[in-house]
Amino acid sequence: MTTQPKTWSQRFESALHPAIARFNASIGFDIELIEYDLTGSIAHAKMLAKTGIISASEGEQLVNGLEQIRREYRQGLFVPGVDAEDVHFAVEKRLTDIVGDAGKKLHTARSRNDQAGTDTRLYLRDRIAEIREQLREFQGVLLEIAELNVETLIPGYTHLQRAQPISLAHYLLAYFEMSDRDWERLGDVLKRVNISPLGCGALAGTTFPIDRHYSAELLEFDQVYANSLDGVSDRDFAIEFLAAASLIMVHLSRLSEEMILWSSHEFGFITLKDSCATGSSIMPQKKNPDVPELVRGKAGRVFGHLQALLVVVKGLPLAYNKDLQEDKEALFDTVKTVQGCLEAMTILLREGIAFNTNRLASAVTEDFSNATDVADYLAAKGVPFRESYNLVGKVVKTCLSGGKLLKDLTLEEWKDLHPAFDTDIYSAIAPTQVVAARNSYGGTGFEQVRKSLIAARDRIA
Ligand code: ARG
Repeated sequence: MTTQPKTWSQRFESALHPAIARFNASIGFDIELIEYDLTGSIAHAKMLAKTGIISASEGEQLVNGLEQIRREYRQGLFVPGVDAEDVHFAVEKRLTDIVGDAGKKLHTARSRNDQAGTDTRLYLRDRIAEIREQLREFQGVLLEIAELNVETLIPGYTHLQRAQPISLAHYLLAYFEMSDRDWERLGDVLKRVNISPLGCGALAGTTFPIDRHYSAELLEFDQVYANSLDGVSDRDFAIEFLAAASLIMVHLSRLSEEMILWSSHEFGFITLKDSCATGSSIMPQKKNPDVPELVRGKAGRVFGHLQALLVVVKGLPLAYNKDLQEDKEALFDTVKTVQGCLEAMTILLREGIAFNTNRLASAVTEDFSNATDVADYLAAKGVPFRESYNLVGKVVKTCLSGGKLLKDLTLEEWKDLHPAFDTDIYSAIAPTQVVAARNSYGGTGFEQVRKSLIAARDRIA
């Protein structure tokens, strides 16, 4: 197994064992970073020329060569193999093939450690912008449906038991709020992503008179890392992103769970449209909610990536260790998963489901979810709430044994229970009134919901 070493210094006498070379290589996945590697290298080359570390003409050759590699890559002409080890070496080698000796100067005052960190941050910055955009689109669809359904009532649940009826818009606005926090959170993560490690070198800085602020400015970083050891070994930004991504998945997964339940025969609140549902290979009657099921399932892998990177980093001595190469696949797969799930759920909501309004309308009239309103009715007439609560509990029990609902009681029966009851009890316990009456700030009352919808539109404008 002794071929000539290609990459390393003369210190090495023999090449890597081929299996070890394959094991070590990251080119199979970090090729994803190539555009950012080129952009980062161009900024580095410009900085080297500006500070006189290389000549202006060498700087130009490097920039032109790197742009040529970009064109070659986009045309599918540059396809580095496993012998390149990683995207950074692949680019440097191709550059030297194109521009000759000047290419060998690109890596002056730089290490792959600060380079890999730079590329990863540039990559993540773009993906965060895209995911935030997708979140806004998702929120837009939630609002569109909500605006059409302020007065559509659905049962509201606690413990998955019917609790109180609510406006469908109010329900959708809850998910709007969750995704708004997701959007905000990613914006906050971006502050820590957008810091330049370029120029931290291998770990200790460099002997050359570099200008880190200049390359950072060219790459539109907001800041530079203040400590070179921290700069090359920090993966907090990646972990923060994975945590933010995990919460996005939590929210999408909860919504998915409800779509799955609601599309079941038992609930029957929504019907899946053919464009977003699948059949069974054996049971011809089936229509399955594969989209929300997959989203719910994919949440697991994103949580796994978060866990994995936390564990990768927790025992690492400063500064760079090869373990950190494991950040890439965790990030790439998370990005792909979150983007795919957001896209699918946006389509599902926009065109993949129909609310069964008849079923929803009858659902809110066939239970005791207006019982709190009877208690509130008496409390508003001066009966202490706990007393009225106990009284209504007794009424519910009587109704249950007689196979009746609260609305079926006669005025005499109400008055027998308590003299404060009057004819207005019937309107007080009608579902629409039950919802309308919850007009406290943030509540499901129609007036509140209309205000929330306007505020929500403003937020995503
Ligand atoms: N492929 C490596 C990574 O992603 C690049 C940095 C390697 N640095 C080193 N000293 N081996 O982390």
